[in-house]
Amino acid sequence: MLETERLLLRPLRVDDVGAYVSLHAHEEVSRFLGSYSRSEALDRLTAVERQWAARGHGRCAIELRSTGDFIGVSGLRYWESFDEVEIAWTLRPDRWGHGYATEAAGAWLDWGFRELPDRYFTAMIRPANTRSIRVAERLGFRPLRQDTLFDRPTTVYSLSRPGDRDGGMR
Ligand SMILES: CC(C)(COP(=O)(O)OP(=O)(O)OC[C@H]1O[C@@H](n2cnc3c(N)ncnc32)[C@H](O)[C@@H]1OP(=O)(O)O)[C@@H](O)C(=O)NCCC(=O)NCCS
Repeated sequence: MLETERLLLRPLRVDDVGAYVSLHAHEEVSRFLGSYSRSEALDRLTAVERQWAARGHGRCAIELRSTGDFIGVSGLRYWESFDEVEIAWTLRPDRWGHGYATEAAGAWLDWGFRELPDRYFTAMIRPANTRSIRVAERLGFRPLRQDTLFDRPTTVYSLSRPGDRDGGMR
């Protein structure tokens, strides 16, 4: 569990399924991340719980400290196919424009570079996802490579450990 000035970040659980389905039902979110039936969402949340158990980190619900509202998801996702850890961010559209995604991801970067051995973290972003690119760039991520994710072109951004001069290459 992480706390920032305005946010509480706590592990995403299978019983968040209602909020998770509703988050991905917004067209502005599903456009880039897809939408899920309840049973698909349960599968994904089960995988999130598995990653938490296996690696001691994972994706979190973002709650507003002032109200307790569930406003989105952020945290760490391990990609076995790339052997890389991604910092993820998604917000309900009615919570865009307040800096919450940047605040949550910044807290994960601080935590990740403190607690994990990784020399860099990634953010995988579709070229048309300009809001997400702005979040990545504000945090200091830079394009590392072009890749394909779920059959769609994706830019893999990376942010290196402070002081690491290899620019995100391992
Ligand atoms: C990607 C996504 C999380 C970005 O949301 P966002 O609200 O633009 O990002 P933040 O919460 O960091 O807010 C930043 C914006 O708030 C503004 N802002 C207002 N108050 C602020 C504050 N106190 N601190 C920082 N920024 C603030 C910033 O100027 C910025 O606006 P700008 O980009 O127009 O300059 C959101 O668009 C989303 O959920 N998209 C769908 C899911 C998705 O694509 N996820 C990413 C997959 S790669």
